Amino acid sequence: MNNNEFWDDIYKSKKNDAVSWYVDRLDVSLKLIQENCPKKENSIIDIGSGRSTLVDDLHALGYQNLTLLDISEEAINQTLQRLEKLKISVSKIFGDISSITIQENLYDVWHDRAVFHFLTEINQRKKYIQNLKRSLKKDGVAIIATFGPNGPDSCSGLKTIKYNEQSLQAELGDDFQVLGSMIDYHQTPFETYQEFMYCWLKINSV
Ligand SMILES: C[S@@+](CC[C@H](N)C(=O)[O-])C[C@H]1O[C@@H](n2cnc3c(N)ncnc32)[C@H](O)[C@@H]1O
Repeated sequence: MNNNEFWDDIYKSKKNDAVSWYVDRLDVSLKLIQENCPKKENSIIDIGSGRSTLVDDLHALGYQNLTLLDISEEAINQTLQRLEKLKISVSKIFGDISSITIQENLYDVWHDRAVFHFLTEINQRKKYIQNLKRSLKKDGVAIIATFGPNGPDSCSGLKTIKYNEQSLQAELGDDFQVLGSMIDYHQTPFETYQEFMYCWLKINSV
């Protein structure tokens, strides 16, 4: 099964609160986006947006320039149907962030909650980082949330890599400077906790 079919199957067969990463509001992400990107006209891309309500909440806060990207067409279509009812319009990109090439110099914020940690092969991570460097504006901020050092070793049966601030910085390379990081304990719908590490970074100016 291809990776996109794997994720499509999950979104076709499982309700919102039947997946471990579900939360009704991405409070940590919203706080970090507002702190790092106060300008409402700035452009934000949500990598591996799934069915999360991040864009709904960002729109309610006044952000207008929003893009969803996901490997699963099903996830994006379900989200677009929800947004249509709310009369919220966003841009969308279907694709695997570890193989497609996205446009240059387009985004002020790159947000990723729970995608980078699935990239277990070096070539996948290389391509992800190329896309990040390519599409983030020079003053932009990347907010990346992965499983933390005490987080799970897998999710939905897929292996994951756990990061702390130092190992994520090392993976992304010297072109990035860490602005901050924090640990968040995500309560899953199954009354268990998962440790996430949020790290926010900017591109080093030469
Ligand atoms: C664990 S879910 C997190 C969804 C959302 N970010 C959230 O926090 O609710 C991971 C999401 O990333 C998507 N995804 C997984 N691998 C991907 C890849 N290589 N490129 C783009 N999206 C990917 C999946 O389809 C899924 O929607």
